Amino acid sequence: MSQQLLIDPYGRKISYLRLSVTERCNLSCIYCRSHPLECGQELGEELLTLEDCLTVGRAAVELGVTKIRLTGGEPLLRPDILKITSGLAAIPGLKDLSLTTNGIFLDSMAFDLAAAGLKRVNISLDSLDENNFRQITNGGKLRSTLKGIEKSLQAGLVPVKINVVLLKGINDHEIKRFIAMTVEQDLCVRFIEYMPMQGSKKWQDLFLPLEKVTKAAAKISPLETIAGEHDHARGPARYFRLQGAVGKIGLITPLSCHFCDSCNRLRVTADGKIKPCLFSSEELDLRPFLDSKEKIKEQLRASLNIRTDPHAVAHNPLSRFKQYRGKRFMSQIGG
Ligand code: GTP
Ligand code: 5AD
Repeated sequence: MSQQLLIDPYGRKISYLRLSVTERCNLSCIYCRSHPLECGQELGEELLTLEDCLTVGRAAVELGVTKIRLTGGEPLLRPDILKITSGLAAIPGLKDLSLTTNGIFLDSMAFDLAAAGLKRVNISLDSLDENNFRQITNGGKLRSTLKGIEKSLQAGLVPVKINVVLLKGINDHEIKRFIAMTVEQDLCVRFIEYMPMQGSKKWQDLFLPLEKVTKAAAKISPLETIAGEHDHARGPARYFRLQGAVGKIGLITPLSCHFCDSCNRLRVTADGKIKPCLFSSEELDLRPFLDSKEKIKEQLRASLNIRTDPHAVAHNPLSRFKQYRGKRFMSQIGG
């Protein structure tokens, strides 16, 4: 069994699969889109089918993946998302099934998703101000996402994690409000450094290191470090708690303190490409092999050989962005 596991040439074991089920999104956030049309495009025939998603999931779990996260675009736009969820949830050996969403459809879908076997949700929420939220998302309604958060807590899709991409001059004045959410609510509010995926020349205009968050938090009350999450296949965040608070604060720092050396994940895009590294333009096409779980496993194994050497980026994480020449926008990768 052990040689069956996915271990890359740098000794990193893969236990986490991010499976994108659509490129479409009902929002068009400023850091994710290229231009408004990009998020509305259909993949048509290229999209992995329900059965494809399940075969990929089964193949990955047989190779040691214990955690699958459904991503998009907006995964809840997939008409068969409940079937994808229940099919994946039924795979023996899968311990954690989660989904990253903008939360808008959770008001109506949270209970059905929980019944289908989804364990938890991560919800993007970049502003607590109605107007600011509308501008960042290009038309989204803050109330809808807030309702989605509430419904997710009620449905037991916990821990509910809130993803806040910190954007200089756009939402950094809201840091304290976000932190305050954790005082009485059992939420995990995670701040994320903006990643300029398109090698945007103006990235410095938006990028802020997360030390601004820790400084703001420390002014409210002392921060306690929460050592290692207890789940079996950790994500990229480090966690803290304000003294006496119910909820947690998380920091995801792909630029100021990168986590490539502990990267435990592979991505499969909605059009069936394995992406071995978020910042690499290397992809392996799964489409010719979708009729066979064994062939998918072979491709998953093969993708390990094109994983990026973490030492190569250790001294200059920014170089990854500068060198990124992939054609995909974040909405086409799934984060
Ligand atoms: P948990 O399992 O709940 O910890 O989720 P997660 O943080 O792994 O997933 P989520 O979809 O909520 O992603 C949060 C942020 O982390 C997003 O901005 C992702 O783009 C970013 N992220 C996830 N994986 C990676 C990675 O491998 N590299 C980098 N640089 N960023 C990542
Ligand atoms: N930089 C950082 N995070 C991003 N996300 C999307 N685009 C970016 C980016 N350029 C986040 C979303 C979502 C998760 C999947 O990835 O906010 O929560």
